[in-house]
Amino acid sequence: MDKSCLGNICILEINLLVGFVIILSLLVPGSLKFASALGNETDRIALLSIKNQLVGAYPGALDSWNDSLHFCEWQGVTCGRRHQRVTALELSGLKLAGSLSPSIGNLTFLRRLNLSDNRLQGKIPKEVGYLRRLRVFELFRNSLHGRIPVELANCSNLLTIHLKQNNLTGEIPFQLGDFSKLIELSLAANNLVGGIPSSLGNLSSLRVLSLAYNHLEGKIPDALGGASNLRNLYLGSNNLGVLQL
Ligand SMILES: *[C@@H]1O[C@H](CO)[C@@H](O)[C@H](O)[C@H]1NC(C)=O
Ligand SMILES: *[C@@H]1O[C@H](CO)[C@@H](O)[C@H](O)[C@H]1NC(C)=O
Ligand SMILES: *[C@@H]1O[C@H](CO)[C@@H](O)[C@H](O)[C@H]1NC(C)=O
Ligand SMILES: *[C@@H]1O[C@H](CO)[C@@H](O)[C@H](O)[C@H]1NC(C)=O
Ligand SMILES: *[C@@H]1O[C@H](CO)[C@@H](O)[C@H](O)[C@H]1NC(C)=O
Ligand SMILES: *[C@@H]1O[C@H](CO)[C@@H](O)[C@H](O)[C@H]1NC(C)=O
Ligand SMILES: *[C@@H]1O[C@H](CO)[C@@H](O)[C@H](O)[C@H]1NC(C)=O
Repeated sequence: MDKSCLGNICILEINLLVGFVIILSLLVPGSLKFASALGNETDRIALLSIKNQLVGAYPGALDSWNDSLHFCEWQGVTCGRRHQRVTALELSGLKLAGSLSPSIGNLTFLRRLNLSDNRLQGKIPKEVGYLRRLRVFELFRNSLHGRIPVELANCSNLLTIHLKQNNLTGEIPFQLGDFSKLIELSLAANNLVGGIPSSLGNLSSLRVLSLAYNHLEGKIPDALGGASNLRNLYLGSNNLGVLQL
């Protein structure tokens, strides 16, 4: 009946709608910027607990890891530009001791991990298995012990595994044969025992396999011939059986 009133309500609604859209368009890009400026809190907390388990670095080595800098600017940390998530953690040659925190598994955007040439002790946490985007895994020249975690096989994008010159024990997990992209596998100079898993012959992209200076025994598996891209094979200084000719 009162059409103008109805009309007013309509106009009011349209005005509200327009206002809402304007507010939304102001808020949404703003909040996106805000989120990326903060980065992901998960990554910051994970980095801080990683730091907590590292001791004895060169004086000042991790000084930049403080609250006045965004974690993406901390030494050795690289973030993706869009998402501000940690994509690389590279802290080699800093005399870092202590152990690698299981929180490493929370850096789920990590592609490169390089903590080589330090003094890390303890085990390689099984949580590395959560790092599905990982391509480079380098922990060589440390004092890591315990087994190579089978969970590492979950990181199906790995190109490089460098664990040489540690004190790793146990057998080489046969699951390491599951990588389709792996180019280099270096486990030399550890205390690994048991046989060479024939599953390694399934590593179709593998070019370098280094297992020298361990306590491996048994026969070199024929199946290794399946790794058709293999160029460099280092097996010296083990207890491997003499090749049957
Ligand atoms: C941060 O990352 C975690 C784990 O990937 C995810 O669950 C969470 O939604 C992210 N938070 C933000 C604000 O992006
Ligand atoms: C790792 O992530 C899990 C699940 O999001 C969370 O419960 C845990 O507190 C995190 N730990 C660290 C040290 O970041
Ligand atoms: C944080 O790290 C930066 C870069 O290393 C340094 O200049 C600054 O003094 C540090 N701030 C504090 C409070 O330690
Ligand atoms: C990892 O660090 C070591 C020691 O600094 C270096 O030789 C190696 O090239 C690094 N790896 C990558 C993939 O950058
Ligand atoms: C590894 O993958 C298996 C099978 O998909 C899953 O059950 C397990 O939780 C994963 N472990 C880690 C540490 O990601
Ligand atoms: C390596 O491990 C063996 C056996 O657990 C131990 O006797 C040896 O001291 C360790 N070496 C280093 C350098 O940690
Ligand atoms: C190699 O891969 C094939 C196909 O995925 C699989 O059937 C076979 O069991 C694997 N061999 C070994 C020794 O793991």
